[in-house]
Amino acid sequence: MVLETIGLTKFFGMVRAAEDLSLTFQEGELVGIVGPNGSGKTTLLNVITGYVKPDRGRIRYQGKDITGLSPRAVADLGIARSFQMPQLYLSLTVLENLVLALAIRAGRARGFWAPLVRADRLDEARRVLEQFDLEEHATHEAGQLPEGARKLLDVALSFARRPRILLMDEPTSGVSARDKSKVMDTLVPVLKGTGVTTIFVEHDMEVVQRYAERVLAFDEGKVVAAGSPDAVLADPAVRRALLGQP
Ligand SMILES: Nc1ncnc2c1ncn2[C@@H]1O[C@H](COP(=O)(O)OP(=O)(O)OP(=O)(O)O)[C@@H](O)[C@H]1O
Ligand SMILES: [Mg+2]
Repeated sequence: MVLETIGLTKFFGMVRAAEDLSLTFQEGELVGIVGPNGSGKTTLLNVITGYVKPDRGRIRYQGKDITGLSPRAVADLGIARSFQMPQLYLSLTVLENLVLALAIRAGRARGFWAPLVRADRLDEARRVLEQFDLEEHATHEAGQLPEGARKLLDVALSFARRPRILLMDEPTSGVSARDKSKVMDTLVPVLKGTGVTTIFVEHDMEVVQRYAERVLAFDEGKVVAAGSPDAVLADPAVRRALLGQP
């Protein structure tokens, strides 16, 4: 087990965003999180990564209690995330965005720009671009990318920090149906190949069914079903919560 939450609870006023969540994640697995709008999916990622402080409960990562650490401290320990809205420097090129991410990893972001661009960093940035099938976009401004490539770049930037755990909030949202599988077909082999534990929030049930190894279904801050994609997506409680079926 690489990550564990114990009784994690977070209310926003009367809204139950997380209630008594006790979850475990194994090294290298690829877990999908589904649930209707407002069911607490992003809140779980926010609490794990230190953006939101839980009211109650603990988070353990590699046996160490990381509850209450700052987002920066959590990231430095090896838990990276991408956001529901990609966080990119839109006026920098794809390659520049990656070099910057690598420089931040190396703790050099406060220096001048020139020393950031070192040959070894450029090589590594190009390697990551290749892994994420983004070479053709290397010199394009991030703000000009098609949505699928932008999503891939966003994940590549998190991945470049060589995390043990990668949390992705809706990696295919806003991407056309046709390009969703391209995004996932590019991402998943890279993530599996490096053994990073991946937890991704996803609204598209086809994507979940096809790519998740295990699924957690949320409703009102609780897990209402967990298991294989087939079992969870067939669960009556999930169908009620997600598809509004009676
Ligand atoms: N910072 C906040 N302040 C107040 N309420 C919040 C905050 N963050 C989340 N909430 C509320 O907590 C509930 C869970 O929100 P969360 O963003 O975790 O849902 P979600 O499952 O990610 O939804 P979506 O699918 O729409 O992204 C919602 O009712 C939301 O309005
Ligand atoms: Mg969300």
